Amino acid sequence: MKAVIPAAGLGTRFLPATKAQPKEMLPVFNKPTIQYVVEEAVNSGIDDIIIITGKGKRPIEDHFDKSFELEYNLKQKGKLDYLKEVQGISNLADIFYVRQKKQNGLGDAISCAKKHIGDEPFAVLLGDTITYSDTPCTKQLIDVYEKYGGSTIAIEELPERKIERYGIVDGVTVEDNIYKVKNLVEKPKLEDAPSNLGITGRYILTPDIFDKLESIEAGVGGEIQLTDAINEQENVYATTFEGTIYDIGNTMEWLKSSIDMALTQEDEVKEEVLDYLRQKVQEYQ
Ligand code: G1P
Repeated sequence: MKAVIPAAGLGTRFLPATKAQPKEMLPVFNKPTIQYVVEEAVNSGIDDIIIITGKGKRPIEDHFDKSFELEYNLKQKGKLDYLKEVQGISNLADIFYVRQKKQNGLGDAISCAKKHIGDEPFAVLLGDTITYSDTPCTKQLIDVYEKYGGSTIAIEELPERKIERYGIVDGVTVEDNIYKVKNLVEKPKLEDAPSNLGITGRYILTPDIFDKLESIEAGVGGEIQLTDAINEQENVYATTFEGTIYDIGNTMEWLKSSIDMALTQEDEVKEEVLDYLRQKVQEYQ
């Protein structure tokens, strides 16, 4: 299976940090956001990845490229741990890039991958969303896809204040944590939301999605919405993701993700972060 990582969005919610750098390159603890996303795909068994980029997204390509000069310098200085890490990044996966020429929504961005994907099911991982779990989120989706066969969406239970920012699922339970989708509503008003189950930014899509994307009209925000195209598909399932999700485009979630990732590091780092947090709690109490 191949993966598509849309990374063409403007990052408006994170200005001014994203004025001259892609939001997907914002570091979460010690790695750029999109590296976590690529690693999730790789850890789910996918090594053929297409990233949909746009204006100002060149640093993403540079990050996954080989850097001869940097490698030479690190070798000369005997910084072999860094050398190994830097080489690992450029060997993670086969990554291809396509530029979305006009900001026309997530659905339009996915259409840009049509030629590369062909007639196979594929994974979609939003480039500004990272997940943390024992079994990678995309692998959890692949397992459900292999059982039920239709497009499969990862969902999470949302607090009310978040509902208007997400695609929301109307579904029927088929087994624990798995729903057959009746309808998806993109960014509804709270009172119109069919449930509190929100689309988290991880999908397995069957290839008929490309025809659906061509046939739909612009939706919410005047953009081609992936959610609307999935609504046109016959057999769609949703499954509750077991793990934690961070939408990095949101400053508060970005901050939490950095703290959480620091807490997954070796004991020394973890203790220093916890000490600092305890000290802050005392100061502000
Ligand atoms: C997109 C999708 C939405 C989904 C969200 C998850 O919206 O259209 O259905 O819930 O990602 O982050 P966006 O955040 O691009 O506006």
